[in-house]
Amino acid sequence: MRLAHITDLHFGAEVPAVVAGLLDDVVAQDVDRVLVSGDLTMRARDEQFEAARELLDAIGRPWTSVPGNHDLPLDRLARAYGSLDAYKRIIAPDPEPVVRDGGLLLAGLSSSRPYLWKSGRVDAAQRSFLAAELGKEAELKVLMLHHPLFGATPARGSRAALQVADAAGVDVVLCGHDHISVRQRLGRMIGVISGTACSWRVRGGEPQAWTLLDHEGDRLRITVRHWRDGKFRETDTTEWRRSGDGWHA
Ligand SMILES: [Fe+2]
Ligand SMILES: [Fe+2]
Repeated sequence: MRLAHITDLHFGAEVPAVVAGLLDDVVAQDVDRVLVSGDLTMRARDEQFEAARELLDAIGRPWTSVPGNHDLPLDRLARAYGSLDAYKRIIAPDPEPVVRDGGLLLAGLSSSRPYLWKSGRVDAAQRSFLAAELGKEAELKVLMLHHPLFGATPARGSRAALQVADAAGVDVVLCGHDHISVRQRLGRMIGVISGTACSWRVRGGEPQAWTLLDHEGDRLRITVRHWRDGKFRETDTTEWRRSGDGWHA
């Protein structure tokens, strides 16, 4: 099973050449599914969601998305009373999707809150949802949400959420928001953050990036593909193995 993790597309702040290169590269890598962890837009405007949708549909593979903080409108009333309306209308009606596809079991969380400016949160109801959905049997269990549950500025409720995910047997936690690429051991799990896929909002000197995950049995190969010299290229690959105490690089 080949999965593409792309995040922080930020349409409205996109670089057209990188958008075209991203489409070419994800298609060329022949992935089974595309997983999108939020910040599809810059300002949650209809035309920005429509551009993101057009890209995802153009890849021609099933895709699954969760919203990020930039997918909530800035306007106070719209934020308070219809925070995910445009996302639900144009991208996906369910901001917390559950997908079972072959050996994959994926649960997505919506970690943005209208009352939090940029940061995110996982609450008790979401922990119950995770335990119920990801407690079932699967070859590869993935939790996806926009705000990282680890790193410098983890979402509120991260520690409790990670405990629930670990107990449910989650293999991989996919996040965005930080606009930097990270792969790290997280208890028995693997934590992955991908950089911004196609916007100019790069951080830490890292160019635009997306992450390819190749899963087979108890092996997972994680490859970061960076935008360099006019195309996405493989820059960093780590091999992971699953044993009794979880995943090791
Ligand atoms: Fe972002
Ligand atoms: Fe974000």
